[in-house]
Amino acid sequence: MSENERKMPVHVAMIMDGNGRWAKERGMIRLQGHNAGMEALREIVRHSANIGVKYLTVYAFSTENWKRPEEEVSGIFKLLVRYVKSEIDELNRSNVRVQIIGDISRLPEESAKAAGYAVETTKDNTGLVFSIAINYGGRAEIARAARLLAKDVRAGRIAPEDIDEAAVASKLYTADMPDPDLLIRTGGEHRLSNYLTWQTAYSEVYVTDVYWPDFTPEEYDKAVDWYTGRDRRYGGLK
Ligand code: FPP
Repeated sequence: MSENERKMPVHVAMIMDGNGRWAKERGMIRLQGHNAGMEALREIVRHSANIGVKYLTVYAFSTENWKRPEEEVSGIFKLLVRYVKSEIDELNRSNVRVQIIGDISRLPEESAKAAGYAVETTKDNTGLVFSIAINYGGRAEIARAARLLAKDVRAGRIAPEDIDEAAVASKLYTADMPDPDLLIRTGGEHRLSNYLTWQTAYSEVYVTDVYWPDFTPEEYDKAVDWYTGRDRRYGGLK
């Protein structure tokens, strides 16, 4: 390993984009793309634990996604319920701790319940921390942190002068997590889409044209290899 090569990423964040285009190319409806996306996610969670990633944070639903047709929105929330039902046992067995980041107060009751159940059931696990961002927006998260700090000031718990970067970070959903080392975006767009706005200040960003449902563990390895600077030749020559 050369001096320039980096260690494995501790925290990997992912923007799971391209489900709709994947479906369209196959003459399917968008929800079928999200469904295939859920299958892909399953493997990516497994693979994260296998390769020693400690934190995986995925963007399942943004504060902007409410603008989509009602049918698609409710379909994604139903997928969350299905995901929890089908995966919770394996997640638990694999020592994965599930977290939800975002404002789940607006979610349909059944989905909020499923999310709460997943968090509660896995809360004592000590392996991979798997955070699902739902009804999440980076700016909304920072505004919420400001609100919480303002309340602390009003209650006399802290002084305005105490508000530094660490104080803000301590009020984010990710307070107990290191910042992402690597952000992966599938589907080819080069933007951050209001995702982990505070936390990605120094993250390395990897964009692939591969649509999320086609993002296999092999594709994941490519992103990690890019991050670590490793030159795996897969049996060939340089
Ligand atoms: C973006 O693709 C994807 C989403 C908004 C939803 C992501 C959801 C999943 C991967 C499955 C759900 C899993 C859980 C745990 C809830 P897009 O629809 O923007 O694709 P496009 O850019 O091709 O239209």
